Amino acid sequence: MSSFPSLPESEQQDAKYQNICNNHRHLLETLPKANGWRNRHLYNYNGFWLSPIVLKANLLLHTYFKSHPTDIFLASFMKSGTTWLKALMFSTLNRHRYNFFNHYLHKHGPQSTFPFLDAESYPITDFTTLSHPRLFATHSAHTLLPPCISSGKFVYVCRDPKDVLISKWLFMSKLRAKDLPTLSLDVAFELFCLGVSEFGPFWEHVLSYWRASLESPEKILFLKYEEVKKQPEVVVRKLAAFMGKPLTSEEDEKGVVGEIVKLCSFESLRNLEVNKKGVEKFGKLVEIEKRDFFRKGEIGDWKNYLSDEMKERIDGITDDKFRGSGLSLRETV
Ligand code: A3P
Repeated sequence: MSSFPSLPESEQQDAKYQNICNNHRHLLETLPKANGWRNRHLYNYNGFWLSPIVLKANLLLHTYFKSHPTDIFLASFMKSGTTWLKALMFSTLNRHRYNFFNHYLHKHGPQSTFPFLDAESYPITDFTTLSHPRLFATHSAHTLLPPCISSGKFVYVCRDPKDVLISKWLFMSKLRAKDLPTLSLDVAFELFCLGVSEFGPFWEHVLSYWRASLESPEKILFLKYEEVKKQPEVVVRKLAAFMGKPLTSEEDEKGVVGEIVKLCSFESLRNLEVNKKGVEKFGKLVEIEKRDFFRKGEIGDWKNYLSDEMKERIDGITDDKFRGSGLSLRETV
């Protein structure tokens, strides 16, 4: 038995955090790195390309995040419809709390409804004060998340990779560090096809959640942007049931589903003052102009940017990667 008294709690925490910092530094020195879209470099950590901030957040989550079985996570590859799903899930889950004429989303916008886990810094936010079920958003692949998180439920939304590429390229070009040369579409396309983009490779990201959804369909609801676009009312019903609050016949008679769909439509969200001005903070370190989350909100805008050859190449990669998985993004495009 040790004759030394154990360190006080705060010093133990500091020592843990020092270990994380040392590990982070070591990883940045040793992991394979490649060109980033926003910042100079991305690092390949357990098969996925992460920025230094996200890598650190991931190490912090593994050490400090305490999950709760009622937690609900919205997971997505960047630019797949996260903002939209935040609004749909929040308004569906809280449909008894707010009326649709004077809704929480009118004043606060969708981003505020889901703390974003991939931008946490030390000390991580005290999520114990959130009401249950707690809602969280992540862009991390399923295999990168702390194991404790699998006790919760997931909604995953994916999208045609060609639209994701264009949406991401335009979005990241705005955020790109000023000391870096412009990221041309040709270079972004090449990087995307090689899997090198924040949180990528795209295909492995999608497959990580697809496989998990096949293993535990009751835990992971797998959605496609295109299906939400085409049948938003069906999706709202699915979300309500999945989150444990199925629509009642009385709500059906009142047209509640239609109200939710209208409140969260692209036009309605984009035109809210709260989504037009100012910046959104993700954790303490990341800031993004709110209006940049609303661009066109369409299926197939890639046609205005990609050549036939580029289209064929991405579709070919998608077919190869998804072959035998039972997943197709083809029928939706
Ligand atoms: P585009 O750039 O193709 O227009 P994310 O929220 O994951 O960052 O995804 C952003 C994409 O979703 C953008 O796509 C954005 O315009 C679109 N989007 C945002 N809100 C939407 C909504 N309510 N309905 C449909 N698409 C929406």
